[in-house]
Order: sequence, then structure tokens, then C-alpha cells
Amino acid sequence: MSDSHSGDSAVLTIEGKSYSLPIVRGTEGDRAIDISKLLQQTGCTTVDLGYKNTASCTSKITFLDGNKGILSYRGYGIEELADKCLFVEVAYLLVHGHLPTASEYQRYRDLLNRYSLIHEDMIHFFDRFPPGAPPMAILSVMVNSLCSYYPEMNDDPTAPLDLTAARLISKIRTIAAFSYKKSIGKPLIYPRPDLSYCANFLNMMFDSPVEPYTIRPEAVAALNKLLILHADHEQNCSTSTVRLVGSAGVNLYASIAAGINALWGPLHGGANEAVITMLEAIQQDGGDFQKYINKAKDKSDPFKLSGFGHRVYKTFDPRGKIIKNACDELLASLNSSSDPLLEIALRLEEVALKDQYFIERNLFPNVDFYSGIIYRALGIPTNMFTVMFALGRLPGWIAQWKEQQEDPGSKIGRPRQVYIGEPSRPFVPMSER
Ligand code: SDX
Repeated sequence: MSDSHSGDSAVLTIEGKSYSLPIVRGTEGDRAIDISKLLQQTGCTTVDLGYKNTASCTSKITFLDGNKGILSYRGYGIEELADKCLFVEVAYLLVHGHLPTASEYQRYRDLLNRYSLIHEDMIHFFDRFPPGAPPMAILSVMVNSLCSYYPEMNDDPTAPLDLTAARLISKIRTIAAFSYKKSIGKPLIYPRPDLSYCANFLNMMFDSPVEPYTIRPEAVAALNKLLILHADHEQNCSTSTVRLVGSAGVNLYASIAAGINALWGPLHGGANEAVITMLEAIQQDGGDFQKYINKAKDKSDPFKLSGFGHRVYKTFDPRGKIIKNACDELLASLNSSSDPLLEIALRLEEVALKDQYFIERNLFPNVDFYSGIIYRALGIPTNMFTVMFALGRLPGWIAQWKEQQEDPGSKIGRPRQVYIGEPSRPFVPMSER
């Protein structure tokens, strides 16, 4: 593990023999024990289910402090980025490491616009999915298929990455909107060169030849904010998947497709859809949210309160706070009467946060708890909420994949295990079993 912040060391004693392990310090004071030579020195590996205590890499992209509720991209606080930037600016920041100048931003916008179409043959792929096909399945298939149209990527995975990255950031938006239009049997709306990233997406989703869509600045602002808040989150499940697949030398698009599949999980990005399903169930149950809090606490019931809890945040998820605060303002500006599900979500949070079960386990609303309320106000169907998460997370995945590809110390990801199966035993021929 290469680092510029080595400091003191930890001493490990095994069967009376002591080993000194260097401690690596991060920029913000986070510390890690470097065990990269542990097996060679001690003959032992470590075991850490779910990697709760394990750093898989050093990174310069995103910093989280789970106790203070801090999130920053390339050193900039999430609050300022969400309040003052456009999503394309933040995508540029994550992938390139600095906020774009006006001319860099304009060039990036032009690049995204130039590559916003998908090959016309790819449009026929949508016809081959059965009705009701899960949008995340479609998204990962389409992203994976993209590399068939750019064979140079398979020869050299790092082939002009800036272009490859911009192409995908632009096309994923078109793929998402086209898959929605196909799913409702409506004509495809193509991207327009005169529209910004978010305005283009909304227009592709909701415009129609017979009923023109009015692009509301408030809706564009809300989408920019949501995509920025989802743009990266250090080594979460889907990002670690992108890194692991990329570490085998797989091209960017195939690595991202793997990340899309990981994000789909209800414990991960799929939670934003699950939150709305849960709130609707509570609504149908006459608003009896205590019943669902009791289910979440019942160990014999696998039900979890969707949108609650987090592997890292043990005080609050700053993104959830920003979205919650934005909900009222956005609903009012979009002239959406307050969503009854928002009222239920607010009451559910209020009661849960006073319940010892949630307090003792540091369970707070995460990014997924309120995001669905805003997606609904924008008119986005629930089954596309996790697709929206993927649109936001894409620049983060790309930045993390790029960082790993460019790290000279990077190796193929290959964790070990502790074997607890049968001891060695003699083979028994079938005739004797
Ligand atoms: C995202 O990692 C990231 O950064 C992810 C993400 C990102 O930006 O990439 O932030 C996005 O995935 C947010 C999380 C979305 N998922 C959900 O909202 C699903 C509901 N949450 C839980 O499944 C859970 O909280 C996790 C998966 C988010 C975190 O799980 P951990 O860290 O493995 O915690 P755990 O399962 O070990 O739980 C610790 C305790 C357990 O109880 P005990 O065994 O100690 O008695 O807390 C309980 C859990 O049963 N618990 C919950 C709960 N979450 C944890 N109980 C009820 N409801 C919940 N939501």
C-alpha cells in the first residue's frame, strides 16, 4: 500500500511472537493498519465479514466521516457542491480531480452533447425485453452492450478514458429515457443540443409529439441536486464491485455494468424504490407506521425499515438531511401538493428516532429515505428510482475505476477465506455410498 502519510505502527503478538505493522494516516486523520505483508510475516490472514473494518484501497476522490456526518468530493463539502454546482461540473470534478473552468465546462458540455445518441441498432434491443422487464436489468445489459460498439476498449481498457467516460455519462441518460418510453409504448424523444444535461433527460422522459413537455427550472434544479448527492460514496458495495471487476483488466463499460447490478440490491441502491413501496404499504394500512417499526425491530421478521441505517454513517447521512430539507421547498415550487407519503415519512422518522432500538443501533435515515419523494414529484416512475441512482453514481464509479487503473500498485482483487468445511477425507466410489 503506497502512502505519503505513514506514521507510527501497531504491534501484533501471535503465539508469543510480536510483529510491527505500519499505521497509515489519511488526509483527514483517518488511520489504517497496513496488513499488506501480514500473511508473509505471520502466516495469518484476517477475516472481516462484509469488510466492515477493512480499507480496500487508498483514494483521493471522496471522504466520509460517519461519526460527524461529513461527505466531500475531492475536498469540497457536499453541501456546497449540491447548492452551488451543476451535476456536469461535479461529474467533471470527480473524474478529472478539479472543478472545471468555464472553457473546460463548455468543452465538456459539447462532448456530452456530441455523444448523447446511441447506435440506432441498439434501439431494437429494447424490443426484445418482455413487458415489465426490470429497468436495472435493461440498463446493465445496454451499458454492457455499448462496448461492442467500441472494440478499441476491449483491446486497451484505458483507451482514451476521458472520451470513453464522457460518452457513457451522456449515453446512460439516453438509454434510461429510451427504456422508459419503450416500457410505456410511447415514441422515443431524442436528446437536443440546446438543452443542459438534466433538462435533456427530463425532456427525453416526458416530452411527446402531441403533448409538449414544459421544462421547469425547479425540476431541473431538483434533478441536478439529486444526481450530485448520489455521485460518489467511496468504497460502497457497487463501487467496490466496479473496482474488483476492473482489477481483472475488464473494460470500463463492463465494469460499470457490474456496478449497476450491485446497486440494484434492496440493501443498496434498490432501497429508494423499497422506501416508496414501504410508505405506500403504510398508507394502505391507514398510516399505521408503528406496525412497520415493530416489524423492523422483530428479529423473527426479515423486514428492515428501508432507507434507514448505514454501514458508515452512525449519526446522520448528510445527503438525507439535504434531500429532506429540500423536499418541502421543491414540492411547493413544483406545485405538487405535499405528498401524503412525505407526511408518513416524516412521522415515521420522528417516531423511529425516539425508539431505543434505532437509537442503540445508530439507525438514521439515509440518502434513500426521502429521495423517492422528489423523484415522484418530478414524475419519475418508482421502478426507475434505482436507475436514477445509477445515473448519479456513474461519474463516481468512473473516477474510482480510473484511479485504480492508474495506480501502479494496483493488483487484481482476490480476497482470501477461512475454510471451515470437511477435513481431508478418502474418496468413496458411488457403488459404496
Ligand atoms: C445505500 O455503503 C454506502 O455508502 C451505500 C450508499 C451509497 O451511497 O452507495 O450510502 C447507498 O446503499 C444506503 C443504504 C440503503 N439500504 C437501506 O436503506 C436498506 C435498509 N438498511 C439496512 O439493510 C442496513 O442498515 C444497511 C444494509 C444499510 C447497513 O447494514 P450493516 O452496516 O451491515 O448493519 P447491520 O445489518 O449489521 O445492522 C446492525 C444492526 C442489526 O441489528 P442487531 O443484529 O445488532 O440486533 O442494526 C439492525 C440490524 O438488524 N438494522 C436495522 C436496519 N438497519 C440495520 N433494523 C431495522 N431496519 C433497518 N433499516
